Amino acid sequence: MPNTLITNAHLVNEGSVRIADVLVEKGRIARIDDTIAAEKGWEVLDADGRHLLPGMIDDQVHFREPGLTEKGDIAYESAAAVAGGITSYMDMPNVSPTTTTRTRLQEKYAMAGGRSCANFGFYLGATNDNLGEITALLPGEACGVKVFMGASTGNMLVDDPDTLEQIFARCPVPVVTHCEDTPTITANEKRLRKQYGDNVPISAHPLIRSTEACWKSSSLAVDLARRQQTRLHVLHLSTSKELELFSNQPLDHKRITVEACVHHLFFSDRDYASKGALIKCNPAIKTEQDRQALLRALLDNRIDVIATDHAPHTWEEKQRSYFGAPAGLPLVQHALLSLLEQYHWGRFSLELIVQKTAHAPAHIFGVQERGFIREGYWADLVLVDLHSSYKVARDNVLYKCGWSPFEGYTFKSAIVATLVNGEIAYRDGAIQNRLCGQRLKFENFESR
Ligand code: DOR
Repeated sequence: MPNTLITNAHLVNEGSVRIADVLVEKGRIARIDDTIAAEKGWEVLDADGRHLLPGMIDDQVHFREPGLTEKGDIAYESAAAVAGGITSYMDMPNVSPTTTTRTRLQEKYAMAGGRSCANFGFYLGATNDNLGEITALLPGEACGVKVFMGASTGNMLVDDPDTLEQIFARCPVPVVTHCEDTPTITANEKRLRKQYGDNVPISAHPLIRSTEACWKSSSLAVDLARRQQTRLHVLHLSTSKELELFSNQPLDHKRITVEACVHHLFFSDRDYASKGALIKCNPAIKTEQDRQALLRALLDNRIDVIATDHAPHTWEEKQRSYFGAPAGLPLVQHALLSLLEQYHWGRFSLELIVQKTAHAPAHIFGVQERGFIREGYWADLVLVDLHSSYKVARDNVLYKCGWSPFEGYTFKSAIVATLVNGEIAYRDGAIQNRLCGQRLKFENFESR
């Protein structure tokens, strides 16, 4: 691999923006300086004053392997991810068969080797009876253990109180939770069915997957974590009310952290009328007030991370009526662009976007040598043009499912190039290299 020199970039990193050149050598950032003279044989990428960010580390995706490959797969979704500036992802276990044993986890790593555009880590899934698998996990074997404390796609509900207590007490890696109380949801569903029969409108989704359902489950998770001293990361917060549960201490001091997802920051219940089941997801997209509260909580550091929960389903599946349409939407290709809209609207600084999408997930999960633009770190970088618009259309969507909830929308920014492990994976609208991704390494988080 020849050296790559990125010149004249606005580097957004660790709370500031500076103009610099970056030399990439053997996949890593070798030097950052005001100016670096190019040498013969180097590839020069002139940033021309555009912004260079550490690649996004997406701590929540569903790339659907093994077993659900009609919806998505590692090759397609990881290509879409790098086209969107995501250089690393952590993939969920609700696949078929579920990733609920260490053997299946190893099989999944073997499956991804040599097929992923972006770097990858995998979660082990919890069940009501796999505590032995969880406690046997070695540091670095999984990015975390996923606990569905509410049922969602894949039927992996963990609802046995003793099991939950044991998982929170003994899990050797971070516990990440999907928090929605299933009995509350079932009761809401019954009520709405009485009113509408089978024709429940999509707009009722946030009434079924209600604020109360979220609150009940996330307060249980936080209570368990406080009592058991668990390293807990609550996924995809969707309501204002749940924010009461989280603190805005410095990240270093937190054992309980929380994530928001791009669709909960971009859409609100007003969008069900135009998007229908395309934006049906769990937890549901809630009110405009909830959306605004999530945005504020990112600014005041109660919310630590922004991720996608990329969850593709086929177009045909999403055309069904409320009960038939599966929950989840594909997002990785446009996640960073949607956050840059918040920058253009004056809501987020670029530094905040980088903190929440790269620095914080690297810190929380102990991702080794990634997530920052630092000499010696892997060159996982994304060059963005804040003044070049990008319209999403069916023919530029790279997901296997072939559709996006953003179709027809024109973003005010564009992804110019993405480097993964120093290789140019994506540039000027095309995937350049499909095989750049490596397995992520994790520090033993208890020893940090
Ligand atoms: O909307 C969702 N879709 N939420 C989840 O928890 C799972 C995901 C999926 O796998 O489809």
